[in-house]
Amino acid sequence: MTDTPVPSGSPSDAADDDVARRLRAAEPVHADDETRILPSQTDDDVVRRLRAAEPVHADDETRILPSQTDDDVVRRLRAAEPVHADDETRILPSQADDGVVRRLRAAGCVFAEDEARLLRAQADGDLLDALVTRRVAGEPLEHVLGWAELAGVRVVVAPGVFVPRRRTTLMVEEATRLARAATAPRPVVVDLCCGTGAVGLVVALRTGDVELHAVDVDPAAVRCAQDNLARVGGRARTGDLTAGLPHELRGRVDVVVANVPYVPTDEVRLLPPESRLHEPVTAVDGGPDGLGLVRRVLSEAASWLARPGHVLVEVAAHQVPDAEQAARAADLVPRTVRDDDLDAVVLVASAR
Ligand SMILES: C[S@@+](CC[C@H](N)C(=O)[O-])C[C@H]1O[C@@H](n2cnc3c(N)ncnc32)[C@H](O)[C@@H]1O
Repeated sequence: MTDTPVPSGSPSDAADDDVARRLRAAEPVHADDETRILPSQTDDDVVRRLRAAEPVHADDETRILPSQTDDDVVRRLRAAEPVHADDETRILPSQADDGVVRRLRAAGCVFAEDEARLLRAQADGDLLDALVTRRVAGEPLEHVLGWAELAGVRVVVAPGVFVPRRRTTLMVEEATRLARAATAPRPVVVDLCCGTGAVGLVVALRTGDVELHAVDVDPAAVRCAQDNLARVGGRARTGDLTAGLPHELRGRVDVVVANVPYVPTDEVRLLPPESRLHEPVTAVDGGPDGLGLVRRVLSEAASWLARPGHVLVEVAAHQVPDAEQAARAADLVPRTVRDDDLDAVVLVASAR
């Protein structure tokens, strides 16, 4: 959010000063507009409050637009203060008479203008109306659009399939570094629990010529992954972790990326509604301590690795000690990579 560029046609410097003064003097009402247009003035506070309010580590802010947690902030800001209609019409004159924006905003979409722009690029007339109706009913924007983005790469995502999160960019970056360092002329990359296949796809695109295999237990996810991986010649199969891999890969895999479900079962109910209601529980529920699938991946993947070879799993910060212990139990050497801006932690477990 803090990197959001100021759109062209934004107010002049003098007007900005005036707006800044007025916003500072009063609690911002249109927090969504303000964070988009004037990020430097409001983001710090909004981000702090969002972080403080976030109940679990898992599925929140960073899809195409960070609408799930911001909604709550905007609702609270609106409830606390009457609308500054003059600010709105002066800063954003085009919004007031836009039916799509109005519908999205009334439904609590924070980045209503941005969402309207994306939806309009997708459809018009009755089809646009149908898309807006789905979004207003609470479907994730990515499911409505039919695509999502990870690290700047667009992937197909069907309703009911896990939407890639921005924090997973860290896994992509680390995996790409390791795949590029592989000694094989054509490194083998495996994406377990692939969902749309976005992680493996971006690693393949960034690395160059790789042999890419992806596995997911959910046939709907595998169909998306098959579509998405076609552009790099990758294969996606339905299966339970490594049971879905062809046997000839055993001992040949340079990098396993596995963004597995890691939310503890008791915390699944705390996830934002967009995740709880529109993504399968099998995509998020990691068992009693969240690490059930992480342990299985580490112990199963060890025998598929080349030497050197690496398994990468995303975890929550508090899960690191137990995840490292699971790596050691699988005779792998753990290290942890973090990115506070992405709120991401990746365990890299390497073959000896
Ligand atoms: C958190 S999502 C991650 C999807 C994708 N890697 C990404 O980052 O966008 C976890 C995925 O794991 C899949 N999954 C859950 N249990 C599985 C299992 N035992 N074997 C294979 N896939 C599984 C789910 O269907 C879901 O697509």
